[in-house]
Amino acid sequence: MAEKKSSSWVLMVTAQTPTNIAVIKYWGKRDESLILPINDSISVTLDPSHLCTTTTVAVSPAFSHDRMWLNGKEISLSGGRYQNCLREIRSRASDVEDEKKGIKIAKKDWENLHFHIASYNNFPTAAGLASSAAGFACLVYSLAKLMNVKEDNGQLSAIARQGSGSACRSLYGGFVKWIMGKDYNGSDSIAVQLVDENHWDELVILVAVVSSRQKETSSTSGMRETVETSPLVLHRAKEVVPKRIIEMEEAIKSRDFPAFARLTCSDSNQFHAVCLDTSPPIFYMNDTSHRIISCVEKWNRSEGTPQVAYTFDAGPNAVMIARNRKVAALLLQRLLFHFPPQSDADLNSYIVGDKSILKDAGIQDLKDVEALPPPPEIKDNIPAQKYKGDVSYFICTKPGRGPVLLSEESRALLDPETGLPK
Ligand code: DP6
Repeated sequence: MAEKKSSSWVLMVTAQTPTNIAVIKYWGKRDESLILPINDSISVTLDPSHLCTTTTVAVSPAFSHDRMWLNGKEISLSGGRYQNCLREIRSRASDVEDEKKGIKIAKKDWENLHFHIASYNNFPTAAGLASSAAGFACLVYSLAKLMNVKEDNGQLSAIARQGSGSACRSLYGGFVKWIMGKDYNGSDSIAVQLVDENHWDELVILVAVVSSRQKETSSTSGMRETVETSPLVLHRAKEVVPKRIIEMEEAIKSRDFPAFARLTCSDSNQFHAVCLDTSPPIFYMNDTSHRIISCVEKWNRSEGTPQVAYTFDAGPNAVMIARNRKVAALLLQRLLFHFPPQSDADLNSYIVGDKSILKDAGIQDLKDVEALPPPPEIKDNIPAQKYKGDVSYFICTKPGRGPVLLSEESRALLDPETGLPK
């Protein structure tokens, strides 16, 4: 058994993992339990200072069973996806020695030791942003560090994938490709980094968190229904995506924004088209999402070349990628014109993340928002419409780095003595 002079000890590790947004979408599995996709996908990792998961994992001979707390509430680990991740990572554990604490754990001891896991998202889970991607990536990454797992991030991505498909792409920063793979056991269905976060650091990402009362269909069941009923999805996976993947990799490597924007928007729209082609049809976007698309499309057309790309996952939130800061400021002016905050709102909580974008857009208070002129590209006779309250808030962020360990004990979510949530 694991040794230490005193009868009980707690060893723990804390890590932070980003979330990601796909620019070429994953939608459809060829194996439900191993989570193997029907096509490759590509994503951009979002800056963890604005959107990330922090996870502390602890091990102690005093723990009687595996336990997990998500955003402070205990949750069950009995689900197949958690069990698969825990089994896979445990089977790769190595010897661990903490000389300072006098703890020695042999490879074989890990089978009989239990974990306490605490995870926290720095963004509201209810906002419908990809929390499972960052969550499973962080769980696998932090356990791998705790257990001295020798596998690289690519191999860890194949484990995170078994928690949630999109999670495998959160093991790297920058732009990431999830290769669908061919093996029946999924060993080659892994994420690879295309370029790191410094390669295209001009990009600015604006997320519009759209108010929604509707309960959405989960990605897992939505994509299952699509694969079972949509005649279009096979054409997408076999004919469309393979070509787009090649073009997208090229656009990213050469920082070709017009090609990047064209591919990103088309792929988001095709993903929502296969949702509509599902029986019964799945609607993830709502009127606000459609209005945001129109606003961006109109502006892009009037400029002659795309300034902003948009993409939507399994929900109404818009993720917009602007070619640079100047464009992002002009985009924010347009969005605030059409979607001003409620009259009693605080601008500080309406734009979160990198708030300096407000200054770039020349906006200091609500009066500045009210004074925004209609975007010049709206030349129609119809007066420009305003939809107050239809966007809950905006997040301004940028492409970001991959997982990191947080070494300061103050960042841990579990108490170092008891191994219980702080
Ligand atoms: C629309 O990864 O959430 O965000 O593998 O069943 O957990 P499971 O699904 P999930 O699906 C993500 C779908 C998407 C597109 C994408 O991220 O590529």
